[in-house]
Amino acid sequence: MIPIAKPNLGDEERRAVIEVLDSGQFAQGAKVAEFEKRFAEYVGRGHGIAVSNGTAALHIALLAHGIGKGQEVVVPPLTFFASASTVILCGGKPTFADIDRNLYNMEPTHLKSAVTKRTRAVMPVHLYGQTAEMDPINETAEAHDLVVLEDACQAHGAEYHGKKAGALGDTACFSFYPTKNMMTGEGGIIVTDDPQVAETCRLLRSHGERAKYDHVLVGFNYRTTEVAAAIGLVQLRKLDGFVRRRRENAARLTKGISQIEGLSPPVEGNWMLHSYYQYIVRVEDSFPLSRDRIVERLNSDGVGCRPSYPSVLYAQKAFRRRPRTRCPVAEDVVGRLFELPVHPLVSPEDVDTILGSLDRLRGP
Ligand SMILES: Cc1ncc(COP(=O)(O)O)c(C=O)c1O
Repeated sequence: MIPIAKPNLGDEERRAVIEVLDSGQFAQGAKVAEFEKRFAEYVGRGHGIAVSNGTAALHIALLAHGIGKGQEVVVPPLTFFASASTVILCGGKPTFADIDRNLYNMEPTHLKSAVTKRTRAVMPVHLYGQTAEMDPINETAEAHDLVVLEDACQAHGAEYHGKKAGALGDTACFSFYPTKNMMTGEGGIIVTDDPQVAETCRLLRSHGERAKYDHVLVGFNYRTTEVAAAIGLVQLRKLDGFVRRRRENAARLTKGISQIEGLSPPVEGNWMLHSYYQYIVRVEDSFPLSRDRIVERLNSDGVGCRPSYPSVLYAQKAFRRRPRTRCPVAEDVVGRLFELPVHPLVSPEDVDTILGSLDRLRGP
């Protein structure tokens, strides 16, 4: 089976973990501080606050920007649950701006129509490893005095106009879950240039504790570990190489899939460097098989393949209130998308196997 995702870990990560185990320092310490500094530098931000996962990062970043009761945050309808659930955890209300049909990210004109007098922030999600179209999003945000919180949990190493994802709004959050472009087991980080937001995030991460047993805010235990940070430091050094390998695999896949009538490969937007966290194919009406049947056939051929998200976010049972305005593009597209293996451990021969399997789908 060619797995859909596989963490890429080697001897360096092993040695880094053993070094931590031998040191006896497990909870947040010097390695975490070093990882924060290096990751913030990589992105081009002044501050990094490492936390236990990407969800925790979004939660306290929203709180640090003052999101609270009754305030609206515009999110896209095609994304992971946490992009909206964290707004609700803050007491706020997620509202939805439809996506671009080809790029799958929030479409800037839909953002404009989604803004109301209660809107306080916008959360562009850089889905599948490609940034949202940030210039027009930032313009709308500026016109309405909105905070821009990038959900960059899928976009380590992606770029827009030569700037890294994570340096494109006010504050950004990343996840280091094992499938991501770089991983720490579980983990997350907030990056920002705003010293006050950084300080509030640091407090909220650890029970609002300014000094030992001196609690100035009611916060959480969202700290990460020295083991996670030690893995992260090694993975960060390898990140650009990982992204290069993903892009090579994606280029080969796209060359082959472009020849198959009825299957649309991913589109790289203007000024965007796609980091291919996911390689997403869209099934058009002209293709003889449904998306779900394609996924079944590829899996039985040994190609790890799965549908992308099962529904638009606002249709999830946990969100009982449906939005006033629906997102027809996302509703149409969501049932057409499937993921193919693109990670750095996919070889050129694997890509040939994947393309061969796709080619046979049109046959008897
Ligand atoms: C877009 C997006 N936002 C948020 C998260 C949450 O990150 P974590 O799983 O580390 O909590 C993820 C994780 O998969 C994600 O893909």
